[in-house]
Amino acid sequence: MGRVQDKVCVITGGARGLGLAAAEALLAEGARVLITDVDRAEGEAQAQRLGSNARFRVQDVTDEGAWKTTLDAVIEHWGRLDVLVNNAGIGLIGDVEKATLKDWQRTLDINLTGVFLGTQAAIARMKASQSSIVNVASIEGLIGEQEIPAYNATKGGVRIFTRSAAIHCARAGYKIRINNLCPGFAETQMVAGAVASMAPEDGEAFAARTLARIPMGRFAQPAEIANCVLFLASDESSYMTGSDLVVDGGLIA
Ligand SMILES: NC(=O)c1ccc[n+]([C@@H]2O[C@H](COP(=O)([O-])OP(=O)(O)OC[C@H]3O[C@@H](n4cnc5c(N)ncnc54)[C@H](O)[C@@H]3O)[C@@H](O)[C@H]2O)c1
Repeated sequence: MGRVQDKVCVITGGARGLGLAAAEALLAEGARVLITDVDRAEGEAQAQRLGSNARFRVQDVTDEGAWKTTLDAVIEHWGRLDVLVNNAGIGLIGDVEKATLKDWQRTLDINLTGVFLGTQAAIARMKASQSSIVNVASIEGLIGEQEIPAYNATKGGVRIFTRSAAIHCARAGYKIRINNLCPGFAETQMVAGAVASMAPEDGEAFAARTLARIPMGRFAQPAEIANCVLFLASDESSYMTGSDLVVDGGLIA
C-alpha cells in the first residue's frame, strides 16, 4: 500500500516545477493525479510521461467557472476528490516604487484569489470524506523581500486565509484538513526566471545574497518540497489543520 494509495488528487500549476514534482511524489505512493495548468503542451507531455494514473486538463485558476468544470470532471472520472494542491503561482519582480497596478492585480488574482476559488470549490465536493487541501504559500508570506511586494502580500494572504478556512471546516465537522506549505528557495523556473529578469550583475548578486542567507547553503530540489506535499496530503498528517509547514533549509530560523 502506498502512503496515498488510491487517493484522487488535483494539482494546479502541475506542468512543471514544484507542482510536477508533487505529482511524481503522489503517483509514486499510489495516488491518481490530475495536473492542471495554463500550459497545455507541457501539461499534456508530462501527463503522458507520468503514466496511466495521471491526467492533464487545461485550467486557469483565476476562472471560477473552470474550477467547477474541472472538479466535476474529476468526480465524474474517478468518483471522488481527496486532495487538492493549490500550487499555481507567479512571482513578478519590482519593488514597491516600481510595481505596477497591473502586475499587482495579476499576482493577487493567481496567487490569492486562485487559492480562494480552489479551496471553496474543493470544500463543496469533499465534505463527505477524509480529505486534505494543501495551499502552497511560501516563506515569502512570513518575511518581506523588497523586490516582490505583491508576491509577499499574496503569500501572507494565503497563510491567513488557510487558517480561516481550516477552522471553518473543522468546526463544521467536515473531515477536511487545510494546511499551508511554506517552501524556501527551490530550483525551478520561477526562481531562474526571476534571476533572468534582472540585469545580469543584479541577478548574480541576488543569487549569491540569497544562498548566503540559507544556513544549509543550497536551494531545495523540487523533490524535497514535494515530499512535504505528500506528507500533508496523506493521513500521516491527520492531526494537522490550519498549520504552516516551513521547508527552507533553515532560512527563516
Ligand atoms: N520555486 C520556489 O523557490 C518557490 C518557493 C516558495 C513557494 N513557491 C510556490 O510554489 C508554487 C510553484 O512554484 P514553481 O517554482 O514550481 O513555479 P513555476 O513557475 O516553475 O511553475 C508554476 C506553474 O504554474 C502555472 N501557472 C501560472 N499561472 C497559472 C494560472 N493562472 N492557472 C494555472 N496555472 C498557472 C505555470 O504555467 C507553471 O506551470 C508557486 O505557488 C510558488 O509561489 C515556489
